[in-house]
Amino acid sequence: MGKEPDNKRIPDAAVDKLFINRWSPRALDPSPIPQETLQTLFEAARWSPSCSNDQPWLFMYADTAELLPTYLEILAEGNRVWCKNAPVLAILFARRRFAYNNKPNSWAVFDCGAAWMSLTIQARFLGLYTHGMAGFSKESAYRLLGVPEEDYEAVCAIAIGRYGDPASLPDDLREREAPNGRNPRADMAKQGLFKG
Ligand SMILES: Cc1cc2nc3c(=O)[nH]c(=O)nc-3n(C[C@H](O)[C@H](O)[C@H](O)COP(=O)(O)O)c2cc1C
Repeated sequence: MGKEPDNKRIPDAAVDKLFINRWSPRALDPSPIPQETLQTLFEAARWSPSCSNDQPWLFMYADTAELLPTYLEILAEGNRVWCKNAPVLAILFARRRFAYNNKPNSWAVFDCGAAWMSLTIQARFLGLYTHGMAGFSKESAYRLLGVPEEDYEAVCAIAIGRYGDPASLPDDLREREAPNGRNPRADMAKQGLFKG
């Protein structure tokens, strides 16, 4: 494992340091994640809230030398570069229709966002990191994992692991390897009526 970069984030209000210490590193350590730990992450996601408690999330994952190359193939080239070291790769799918009435579920992706964040926060409690990715081929995800596109939408790819060695990254990624900042809170939380 390498040295984690300094975290220069300064919150503007009193939030738990867990939120500041969650970030998306690319230098991941290839050492395996124990099965029990991995299942704890999915268990955290399992208890997320969802519309009508429909639980539309489906985490497909790879954590073995046999499975990881298939998941790596689904990723965009720019993500493969650093994900080749990830001990766990996952693709999060959202079930398109409510299980209880088969009507389209407009909140499925929102609920998947909650589930992924629960997993992420649980990961941080255990000293692990996650890194979400839009850079992947949905078509490859359906085809290579055998998940039916008519029933599920491929939402996000996720890398999971302990912090690794930044020296393993290409120069451009190593230079960006640090927790980033945020827009002002006043831009995203507004009292009352919208005034622009
Ligand atoms: C839905 C989603 C898609 C993302 N896609 C990628 C990606 O394809 N490749 C990548 O390196 N990072 C990706 N990221 C990471 C974001 O760039 C990162 O979360 C953002 O810059 C905030 O930084 P932080 O997570 O370190 O706080 C993605 C994050 C999310 C939530």
